[in-house]
Amino acid sequence: MTNPIKVTVTGAAGHIGYSLLFRIAAGEVFGPKQPVILQMLEIPPAMSVLEGTAMELQDCAFPLLHDMVLTDDPMVGFDGTSWAFLVGAFPRKAGMDRADLIGRNGPIFVGQGKAINARAADDFHALIVGNPANTNALIAMSNAPDVPNERFNAMTRLDHNRSLSQLAAKTGANVADIKQMIIWGNHSNTMVPDIYHAKIGRKKAINAVGKRWYKSYFKPTVATRGGAIIKARGASSAASAANAAICHVRDWYGGTRKGDWVSMAVPSDGSYGAPEGVIFSFPCVCPGDGTYQIVQGLDVNEEIQEGIRKTGEELLNEKAVVADLLS
Ligand SMILES: NC(=O)c1ccc[n+]([C@@H]2O[C@H](COP(=O)([O-])OP(=O)(O)OC[C@H]3O[C@@H](n4cnc5c(N)ncnc54)[C@H](O)[C@@H]3O)[C@@H](O)[C@H]2O)c1
Repeated sequence: MTNPIKVTVTGAAGHIGYSLLFRIAAGEVFGPKQPVILQMLEIPPAMSVLEGTAMELQDCAFPLLHDMVLTDDPMVGFDGTSWAFLVGAFPRKAGMDRADLIGRNGPIFVGQGKAINARAADDFHALIVGNPANTNALIAMSNAPDVPNERFNAMTRLDHNRSLSQLAAKTGANVADIKQMIIWGNHSNTMVPDIYHAKIGRKKAINAVGKRWYKSYFKPTVATRGGAIIKARGASSAASAANAAICHVRDWYGGTRKGDWVSMAVPSDGSYGAPEGVIFSFPCVCPGDGTYQIVQGLDVNEEIQEGIRKTGEELLNEKAVVADLLS
């Protein structure tokens, strides 16, 4: 039997955690042969809810779930861990602006970054989901100087998946037939959903849907979908966010499908005019060994270049706001 890997989920008693943990334990991320030990990190007031979630995990009798650790201590939660989903953060509530959210959640990722640096395994990788995800990833990365920067990603896969579904709904195609979608930049309203390279079967997506629909419907719909869900459900996206986290880490760990790429927010190397020193979403391919490469050489038109500039500027502003949290 393969040795189990330790997988940390923070915010494990929250809404996304409840959709995420069971699927990890069922083998949907690391495959049907890889046992896991789930290390679930919470804050003290949520420990009782977490115990209930752990009882349910136990009652599922998942053969791949070899052990569980429930803790409110980041040093325990990240001890020896190889893969982490950093979900624990407060969702944006009505009336909160982005600066309020950064002020509330940013400090969480200082302590967690330090605990990762001190205790995580050498092959540690983290996906940051808690918002503002890109800037939180930057904070965690900067507080874990012994971990290679490229092991910290933030999640724009939900925006990527939303884009695939909007294209599928418009054209009647199956999502599996749509390839090479891109989300550029920040997981915020300034993100740039780019379908100029996307193909639906053999057709160019932009020709199938038309520029007018792309600009007047698709782009604003994808960019504001999170807010639309909060309005409809009274709570932020949970099951779809957990699903996106599963897709992101599954592909990073096991590889992207042939002929396709995915959107991953990764430490920017300045490709495509994105600012360096921020966590920026790019089209990426993963060979299946826990690494990724930014897809290079794409022809990016002026409209998208302008979007990249704006979303990059927003990330630089967020970085300036959290300057005292970066080391
Ligand atoms: N990147 C994305 O696409 C995306 C999509 C949806 C939601 N989100 C974000 O994910 C986060 C979680 O959403 P949710 O719906 O699960 O929220 P939730 O309020 O249901 O759960 C969050 C959990 O995090 C816990 N928590 C808070 N501080 C913590 C800390 N320091 N350590 C460990 N746990 C801590 C809370 O106790 C709570 O149980 C939010 O910030 C939300 O905005 C991101």
